[in-house]
Amino acid sequence: MKNSIVIVFFFILIIGCQESKKNEMKSINTLSKRAIKVRDYMKKDMVIAHRGTTYWAPEETEAAFRWARNIGADYLELDLQMTKDNVLIALHDDDLRRTTNISSIFTDRDSLPTANFTLKELRSLDAGSWFNISRPDQAKKSFENLKIMTLQDVLMIAEGYHIKKESGVPAKEMVSGIWTGQYLYEKDPNDNGNRPGVYAETKTEHFEKILAEELKELGWLITSNPKKIETFPNKVTIANSEARFILQSFYPESIVELEKHVPNVPKCLLLWKPDMKGELKTTYQETVNFAVKNNVQIIGSSIAGEPNNYGELTAPWMTEMIHKTGMVIHPYTFDTVDQLNKYHKRLDGVFTNRADLALEFYGRKSSSSSEEILKDLGY
Ligand code: G3P
Repeated sequence: MKNSIVIVFFFILIIGCQESKKNEMKSINTLSKRAIKVRDYMKKDMVIAHRGTTYWAPEETEAAFRWARNIGADYLELDLQMTKDNVLIALHDDDLRRTTNISSIFTDRDSLPTANFTLKELRSLDAGSWFNISRPDQAKKSFENLKIMTLQDVLMIAEGYHIKKESGVPAKEMVSGIWTGQYLYEKDPNDNGNRPGVYAETKTEHFEKILAEELKELGWLITSNPKKIETFPNKVTIANSEARFILQSFYPESIVELEKHVPNVPKCLLLWKPDMKGELKTTYQETVNFAVKNNVQIIGSSIAGEPNNYGELTAPWMTEMIHKTGMVIHPYTFDTVDQLNKYHKRLDGVFTNRADLALEFYGRKSSSSSEEILKDLGY
């Protein structure tokens, strides 16, 4: 009798668990056909070069992005910010103190946000020397006085160009005898034929409409007569595909604006543990549903553990939930092989400062070492 009661109890428990799992999954939305089509533009196991690299060269500079292209990364990743004169530039922090010498150039304005400076002012800064001080093991004289990049500069690097130099300094684009703040480009003589895509992060300021217009003008907007970019056999060819440009943001408002101004371009909602208020499972589910509702195809979640020690937002139950919606997962930020080993089976791509390690992990090791590539590129 006692055994029968125990069996009935477990039977009820199992049915109960199945029902609760069904209910949980019932409230997970799934991608629309339109979003699935855009999702399928993207390949699997993509290696996204976070800020170009923060390890081998000063982040988001020409050295970092040229290295990432030549090592064979699938994407050059950058953070977008707007200058006072409405130029989109590549910069992570809200101000310029960490990654430039602004404190010795604009002494009374150094803590101001980037939007307080014109492109010309920003181009007067040295965005490389700080790295030599903070990373003496990777320091190079040639990193000194590297410039802040524009979005256009990064797209040109992906296309196999670099900034033209005259007597070792960037050649200025002049209009009616006045420097625009832009530089001139030329074919990069040390380009090795890889044509990566570009994966750009928007912040809180709303420049999504301007971004759409700029992408269109530069031939990178896949929904509006994109340019043909020449590619080469056995090289990265994403720059000439429908997945050439991916948008990402931590900010729901920006995701909504991106969907309005740049529809049918792959989008990633980034997740950050301190933003996850309330019971984690409920919040996570609501966040995932928000992404689906707004035609987001990718979740960019943080991973736990050394060396960054972010909150765990890529646990198995989370990745299962994301995949159930039809979305793919590109977590951040992978700096070690241990991290790749721990997570790789349930991911579709990785943001990494060590594209060299990630490519090797996925069986696509570069034939040249990172040091050789930097040397070839003149650093
Ligand atoms: O861009 C993906 C992820 O790296 C976000 O982190 O701090 O570089 O914007 P962050």
